[in-house]
Amino acid sequence: MKVGFFQFAPKFGEIQRNLDQILNAIEAFTGDLLVLPELALSGYQFASKTEVEALAQDRQSPIFQTLQSALHDRGLHVVLGFAECADGCLYNSAVLMGSEGIIGIYRKTHLFFEENLWFSPGNTGFQVWDIGGAKVGIMVCFDWFYPESARTLTVKGADILCHPSNLVLPFCPDAMVTRCLENRVFAVTANRIGQEERGGKPPLRFIGMSEVVAPNGSILHRAEASQSELYECEIDIAQARNKRINPYNDLLKDRQPQWYVGEGE
Ligand code: ACM
Repeated sequence: MKVGFFQFAPKFGEIQRNLDQILNAIEAFTGDLLVLPELALSGYQFASKTEVEALAQDRQSPIFQTLQSALHDRGLHVVLGFAECADGCLYNSAVLMGSEGIIGIYRKTHLFFEENLWFSPGNTGFQVWDIGGAKVGIMVCFDWFYPESARTLTVKGADILCHPSNLVLPFCPDAMVTRCLENRVFAVTANRIGQEERGGKPPLRFIGMSEVVAPNGSILHRAEASQSELYECEIDIAQARNKRINPYNDLLKDRQPQWYVGEGE
């Protein structure tokens, strides 16, 4: 199976321009699973809730039909971050699409910084979808800071963590090595590059460094901090399905959930 990411600099508010870049990447990609950044259609640094409302999409948006047409007969799946409006709420979401259209939508659970001003915390929970050849789960950017996100997806059977991101702090690319090692899963973190400075606020500089990490913690590839890149590589899903650490330890069987802090704590 071939997985990869498209690291680029979405331009704030220019949905058609950003979509065109995404469509070009889809066209050029020869793999099976392509992960795109968080909020890749709209850009990130909103100045008001009204701006989010103006740039948000619902499930019926023609953009998803356009994407579906681009995937037609390709056998390719994409994960794309977008601002979603649904049931009178705004969510920082990511859609999983195949040639059959929308397969699922994940709504970001752990909102970061000013996202809390515009978005509602996700109400989908962490879901895993079988795309044939691999089970994929989605977490969005700051979800990495809560190890429960990756662990929940792992316990639910994910082989690959699809991780659309708009990272501004430097820690995540290295932290994902640990997330992969402790869960024995692959991760594809698709971050963006560039800078946004909107609404009189301090600039946000996105750190790039999108990466594919293997279940043994090796970084199969890490992109540059400020260059666009469409990347793909072959991975062996069997590595994520072997949860044996050594002859005496099995990652999931050895968990002791009776001692872990959980729901309602
Ligand atoms: C982030 O969650 N966009 C840092």
